[in-house]
Amino acid sequence: MLTTEQIYLVKGSWEQVVPIADAAAELFYGKLFEMDASLRPLFKGDMVEQGRKLTQMISVAVDNLDRLDEIVPAVQDLGVRHADYGVKNSHYDTVGTALLWTLGQGLGDAFTDDVRKAWTDVYTLLAHTMQEAATAAA
Ligand code: HEM
Repeated sequence: MLTTEQIYLVKGSWEQVVPIADAAAELFYGKLFEMDASLRPLFKGDMVEQGRKLTQMISVAVDNLDRLDEIVPAVQDLGVRHADYGVKNSHYDTVGTALLWTLGQGLGDAFTDDVRKAWTDVYTLLAHTMQEAATAAA
């Protein structure tokens, strides 16, 4: 469960990342493949396009943080599609670590402990919803 304060922190910090989204996505995938090179072959398409899809989906989630129940079905479908892409539940930790690292790079001093915690909670919520749906569909 997210607090009003956490929602405020995530929305405010995401606004700072959106203008640099392409660069942030590039940093993110660089970090992700450095952490686990075996994930690279799962991505078949253009990585700039891929980065835009990812940031767009994060924007949808951020816009709906105060009514997350409304996007649960879309997030579940996303989780089931990810299983089809070859994504395992264990990969979500690596992606979460790369995402938080990227936010830290993009936000600098604005990436306070509270902002980090708020993003960790948002990512964990999304990841769990995706993982549970993927497991249920398997
Ligand atoms: C909160 C977590 C995540 C979000 C919001 C997210 C978002 C997305 C979106 C929006 C797409 C575009 C395709 C679609 O809508 O089905 C996508 C594709 C993909 N994602 Fe994720 N993703 C997440 C976690 C992960 C994880 C943990 C992995 C593991 C490596 C991963 C790997 C992939 C791959 C391989 C594709 C397909 C690439 C292709 O078609 O070439 N994602 N993701």
